[in-house]
Amino acid sequence: MNTPEFRAPRGTFDLVPPRGEAMLAVRDALAAPLRTAGYGYVETPSFEETTLFARGVGESTDIVTKEMYSFTTRGGDDVTLRPEGTAPVLRAVLENGLHRGALPVKLWYSGSYYRYERPQKGRYRHFSQVGAEILGTEDPASDAELIVLAVDAYRALGLTGVRVLLNSLGSHESRPAYRAALQEFLRRLDLDDETARRVEINPLRVLDDKRPEIQKALTDAPVITDFLSPSDRAHHATVRSLLTAAGVAFEDDPRLVRGLDYYTRTLFEFVHDGLGSQSAVGGGGRYDGLSELLGGPALPGVGWALGADRTLLAMEAEGLPLPGATGVQVFAVPLGEEAAAWAFSLVTSLRREGVTADFATGGRGLKGAMKAADRSGAKYAVVVGERDLAEGVAQVKDLATGEQQAVSVNGLVTHLKRLV
Ligand code: HAM
Repeated sequence: MNTPEFRAPRGTFDLVPPRGEAMLAVRDALAAPLRTAGYGYVETPSFEETTLFARGVGESTDIVTKEMYSFTTRGGDDVTLRPEGTAPVLRAVLENGLHRGALPVKLWYSGSYYRYERPQKGRYRHFSQVGAEILGTEDPASDAELIVLAVDAYRALGLTGVRVLLNSLGSHESRPAYRAALQEFLRRLDLDDETARRVEINPLRVLDDKRPEIQKALTDAPVITDFLSPSDRAHHATVRSLLTAAGVAFEDDPRLVRGLDYYTRTLFEFVHDGLGSQSAVGGGGRYDGLSELLGGPALPGVGWALGADRTLLAMEAEGLPLPGATGVQVFAVPLGEEAAAWAFSLVTSLRREGVTADFATGGRGLKGAMKAADRSGAKYAVVVGERDLAEGVAQVKDLATGEQQAVSVNGLVTHLKRLV
């Protein structure tokens, strides 16, 4: 075995064909409902000032305490490879003054994210998300809209096993009473020092502790939904009824908290049971106080991010054919030097006319070139030798039936365009 000297860093992987095309198609499908719904596209840098995430995502989250790729630049700036997209998008909205125009602002994005996590199936250090954010409205219809668009995206990919988990974390009206009740409950448990400290700083984070012994101890913990204020309760009820009206099934999960601190009110996760422990294919929620945390004006928001890598794994788990890799329609097989130059210009013309085409390179013999034609996925091969050219024709071969026909080189592009 030939062992390469360099490998992709631990927790990362390359996407090579045909999986590369499948990933492109997945990203396109996840974004398609957003584009249909009129969301604008936004792109932010892959790294940001470290403080943006520390403050935005939350100082006591796993993401900020353990998982960030942070470094000091040559110029002395502390920056971090983005572990998520919401804080950067909100930063961009505030910086570019989008919040001063017509509200709400609806945005979508797609890109690479980085978390120094323990790698396992479905959990990578470099991964890909498609995300959406709605800024400047508290309307529960926006929360429902986002959930419906995500469910429609999964459906369009053919996925049938995605479940929607729904909760409300309450606003500042409901949170203090819940926090106090939860702390009172947690203080009675026998917890390790670090977790006990967490109870005092950020008790909701303890609910997200994945250790089975902790989860067991939390069985009788108070749930937020019992503490919701009348307006939080009404907000939640509207989200639920809009989802039902849209034919979207969901499961109430009063224990759902998620790993980011900015959430208020609506919280949701999309899970797939074919993925093992990394079952979340996407998730999101409302974050009405995040803008103020970042030094902006009051600007309520709601959004989600869908994991493209895990969506692809879910499709494989369901045995769905991977989308993408269509190959070319026409493959040119030149025999001899003069024919090679002619084939090159034929392929160029075909491509300019919108016919996907490729050709055999390197003066390959007929046998090797025909193999390449088969591998290309083409339906037609154009075989041309010096004698054909002298007669002004090329042989068009249907690669499925093996039928071959001499076609005049003059009308060839038009002829092939009609065929494919
Ligand atoms: P998140 O739940 O941290 O939310 O990530 C969203 C999705 O990204 C996850 O459900 C998962 O599919 C994928 N993902 C996360 N970490 C990894 C990983 N290490 N490897 C592979 N896939 C991963 C957010 O990022 C929020 N910004 C979502 C949001 C937008 N909330 C409001 N607006």
